[in-house]
Amino acid sequence: MDKLLIEGGARLTGETAISGAKNAALPILCAALLTREPVTFTNVPQLNDIGTLLKLLAQMGVKVSRGSGDDADTVTLDASALDNPVATYEMVKTMRASILVLGPLVARCGEAKVSLPGGCAIGARPVDQHIKGLQAMGAQVAVEHGYVHAKVPRLKGARLFTDMVTVTGTENLMMAACLADGETVIENAAREPEVVDLANCLVAMGARISGAGTDVIRIRGVECLSGTTHRIMPDRIETGTYLCAAAATGGEIRLTRTSSAYLDAVIDKLMDAGCDIVSERDAIRLKAPQRLTAVSIRTSPYPAFPTDMQAQFMAINAVANGAAVIRETIFENRFMHAVELQRLGADIRIDGNTAMVQGVARLQGATVMATDLRASASLVIAGLVAEGETVIERIYHLDRGYERLGQKLADLGARVRRLA
Ligand code: EPZ
Repeated sequence: MDKLLIEGGARLTGETAISGAKNAALPILCAALLTREPVTFTNVPQLNDIGTLLKLLAQMGVKVSRGSGDDADTVTLDASALDNPVATYEMVKTMRASILVLGPLVARCGEAKVSLPGGCAIGARPVDQHIKGLQAMGAQVAVEHGYVHAKVPRLKGARLFTDMVTVTGTENLMMAACLADGETVIENAAREPEVVDLANCLVAMGARISGAGTDVIRIRGVECLSGTTHRIMPDRIETGTYLCAAAATGGEIRLTRTSSAYLDAVIDKLMDAGCDIVSERDAIRLKAPQRLTAVSIRTSPYPAFPTDMQAQFMAINAVANGAAVIRETIFENRFMHAVELQRLGADIRIDGNTAMVQGVARLQGATVMATDLRASASLVIAGLVAEGETVIERIYHLDRGYERLGQKLADLGARVRRLA
């Protein structure tokens, strides 16, 4: 199993490019199931999660073509021969976002058999809101033997209200509603930028959607959708992760093919920590102070501070000047990185969904274990500033969500090596 070896102490400087957003690409690739015409996507990140989803779509009968060379980030999907609306446990267990095929399959085929995703390191991750919404739209849904079985001749528009803000729940129901008979209104909808990127792609395919980006999304069902070409938005969490890595090392970097849009809450906190940040049209620059000032955070749905940046901020607070309080309000078990950071010498005390972090002058390199995608990113940041060598095990977690992480860090001057 691959490991990452980091020699701490290098200031990150220079420039690297940000890839397309994983959490936009995953639902948007599923949108291709809604039409018989080919759909082309550009700026698709080359990640394990994307590869897993494309394998799943191919198993359903979707024709998958991927570009090569300079077009390696281009994917064309042709679902005209879609004949197997099934997502097996073997596929779904490796990538829980596979649940995003449920809504499109029910809308396009009138039926779907999708394995329950099950939990993961950060929480139980139920999908009851996805199911409740489809039932409200007229689908017969049974959950048997670990699978969601949904059936309906044609979904009917309905007024839906999710019990909590759910990103993929909103995305699944929005996609399903595109081909329903009548209007669907999703209240308490997720406002994440990735939901908006999906809506923009669906509208380009002929869907009639208004309100994406607000907490009330209206979808007027149509008979069918057509093909389009859509460019995936930049990955705001990858952007935030590299900003944190540079900030922790007292560095000065420029990130291209991205922007500060959709990162206000994160940028505010980095500026409070003492960083200078300059936004350009499709780039963002950060210059960090010698040592950061500790900043407290509280995660919440967009546009508030994103839960996917919580672990990275625990890492920068571990070496900042002062004490910080970190509150995680979205997932019930998203502090797995804390015990690993403590192995590196971090002073962190956990009390339920609250972590108290007292900054220390130096961390010491050690062998640590990645447990989930963003926890792994926080260990990379800590390894960059720790004294000596840090070895991060189980870095397949990183490969799921960060394209060419080792190369990009090396571009920025980090001393990092992948060990087989
Ligand atoms: C999406 O997960 C992201 N994944 C997550 O990113 C992100 O952390 C999360 O949204 C929150 O922003 C993708 O977009 C592929 P939720 P999702 O449904 O949609 C509860 C990463 O690191 N809930 O918004 O699965 C749920 O348990 C990943 O890139 C229900 O109870 O998250 C959680 O406590 C990690 N029932 C809360 O709502 C449901 O039916 C928010 O979850 C759905 C959700």
